[in-house]
Amino acid sequence: MTDDPSIFIGASRKPDDSYQRAENLLLQYGNRHGLVTGATGTGKTVSLQILAEGFSNAGVPVFCADIKGDLSGIAMMGTAQDFLVKRAEQVKLDPYDFQEFPIIFWDLFGEQGHPIRATISEMGPLLLSRLMNLTDAQEGIMNIAFRIADEEGLLLLDMKDLQALLANIAERAEEISARYGNVTKPSVGAIQRTLLVLEQQGAANFFGEPALRIADIMRTTRDGRGAISVLAADKLMMNPRLYATFLLWLMSELFEELPEVGDPDKPKLVFFFDEAHLLFDEAPKVLIDRVEQVVRLIRSKGVGVYFVTQNPLDVPEKVLAQLGNRVQHALRAYTPREQQAVRTAAETFRPNPDFDCATAITQLATGEALVSTLEAKGVPSMVQRTLIRPPSSRLGPITPAERQKLIGESPVTGQYDQVIDRESAFEMLQKKTKEAQDAEAQAQQAGTGGSRWTIPGFGNDDPAPQSGGRRAPAPRPSNRQTVAEAAIKSVVRSVGSSVGRAIVRGILGSLSRGR
Ligand SMILES: Nc1ncnc2c1ncn2[C@@H]1O[C@H](COP(=O)(O)OP(=O)(O)OP(=O)(O)O)[C@@H](O)[C@H]1O
Ligand SMILES: [Mg+2]
Repeated sequence: MTDDPSIFIGASRKPDDSYQRAENLLLQYGNRHGLVTGATGTGKTVSLQILAEGFSNAGVPVFCADIKGDLSGIAMMGTAQDFLVKRAEQVKLDPYDFQEFPIIFWDLFGEQGHPIRATISEMGPLLLSRLMNLTDAQEGIMNIAFRIADEEGLLLLDMKDLQALLANIAERAEEISARYGNVTKPSVGAIQRTLLVLEQQGAANFFGEPALRIADIMRTTRDGRGAISVLAADKLMMNPRLYATFLLWLMSELFEELPEVGDPDKPKLVFFFDEAHLLFDEAPKVLIDRVEQVVRLIRSKGVGVYFVTQNPLDVPEKVLAQLGNRVQHALRAYTPREQQAVRTAAETFRPNPDFDCATAITQLATGEALVSTLEAKGVPSMVQRTLIRPPSSRLGPITPAERQKLIGESPVTGQYDQVIDRESAFEMLQKKTKEAQDAEAQAQQAGTGGSRWTIPGFGNDDPAPQSGGRRAPAPRPSNRQTVAEAAIKSVVRSVGSSVGRAIVRGILGSLSRGR
C-alpha cells in the first residue's frame, strides 16, 4: 500500500479471503508502460476503462482505441447496477462515485469522431512501405521517391500527391536510375497499383490536411482532468495494417515532438494499444526493432504505452520486458500453445508464495486478474490475485445520438472536420506538365522541333511570352536538361528549402527532421 499518488485498480485477497489490500498503480511509474492480457470476455476492456479513468482523474491525457465500441461508455456517467455496487463493496471502494469523463472521439474515417489525418510526408517511407506491404526493392524506390520529393521541393500531403510523384518518377525512370540506382517503370507501376488498392480500402481519408496536432490529444480540462481521446476502431479493424501503421505513426510522432522530461511525477500522456498483436503480426524484424526502440525511448518523454492483447505471446520478448505494470486476466490452457502462453505469463511475474501463478491464471473469474505494478525504485510488486474495481463511467457503448452530441461539443469541433487541399506535389506536377506541354507546343509552333531545345526557367519571375511571340531557341546543352526537368527546377526554386526540410520526416527520427 502506498500514499504516493496512484490509481486504485482493485483489491487482492489471500486464497482464504483472510486478507485484503488495495492494489494501485503508482503514477510516477505510469510511464514505465504496461500490459493487459486475457482471453476474450475476461475483463480486459473494463480494466482499460478503469485505468483510463484513473489517469484522467490524475490529470493525465489518455489516447485509446475502441475496437468494439464498448469503451465509448466512458463518456457517460455510470449507473448503480447491482453487480457493480456489489463489486465496489467487495473491493472496499467507498464511496463508489459515478462520473462522466472528458472525451474526444476520433475516427480515421471521420464518421464516429473527428477525422484524424496525417500527411504522406509525416508518415514517411518506412511506415508507408509497411502499410502497403512492399517488397524490399519497392521500399527502396519509395525511399528514393521521398528523397526526390525533398530535393525537388514537392510537398507530399495526400495520396494523389504520392500518385503524381510516382507517375513522374516512372516517366523519369532512366534518369533517376542513373542517379540513385535501379528504378524501373514496372516496379514503380507495381507500387502505384498497391496505392490504388489502399485508396479503395478507404485509406485516402487518412492522408491529407489538416493533420492531427499532437497538442490536441494532450488536452486537459479546466478542472484538471486529462482528456481521453477515444479512437473509433471498429471499421479500422477491417484494415488491420492501417490500424497498426496509424498507431505506430502516432507513437513516432509523440516521440519526435515531445521534449525529454526524465522521470516525471505522472505521465504526460498514456497510450492504450488494444489488439496489440496486430502491430507485431507478420511485422518484419526491422519494424519490431523500431517498436522496441520507441517504447524504450518514449518513456523519458513521459509517455506510457499500455498494450492490450489476448495472449502475452503476441508481444515480442524485447518489448514485453519493458512493460512494468501488468494486469493478467484469465487464459485458457487447452492447446499446447495456450499452455505455453500461461507458463510465459506466469514466469513474468514476481512469484507469490500463496499461490501458483500458472494455476491461478486459468482459474481467474471475469474481472479478476493477476496484478503486479512497479513499486518503490521501480521494482515489480509481488503478483497479487486481484478483483478489479468497477468503473465510474458507463459500462458498455453509448448511443449514436449521444456520440453525435459529444462530437459537436468537443474542443476540436470545426478544426479537423473539413479537408484542406492546398497546393502540393499533385498540383505542382500537374502545372509543370501543363507548362511543359505549352512550351513544347510553342516550340513546335516556332518550327524548331521543341524536343531539341531547352527553355530558360519559366517560374513566376519569368515574363510571359508576348502573344504570338517566340522565345529565342537555345541549343540543347550537354547536360541533357529536358523541358520537364527545367520545369521541376523552377518549382524547386520557387518553393524554397523550408518545404524541403519539412518533408524529411521518418519514423522514430531515422531520417532527421531539420529543426
Ligand atoms: N472490473 C469489472 N467490474 C465489473 N464488471 C466487470 C469487470 N470486468 C469485467 N466485467 C464484466 O465482464 C464483461 C466482459 O468484460 P470485458 O468486455 O472487459 O472483456 P474483454 O476481455 O474486453 O473481452 P473481449 O476480448 O471480448 O473484448 C463486462 O461487460 C462486465 O460485465
Ligand atoms: Mg474487450
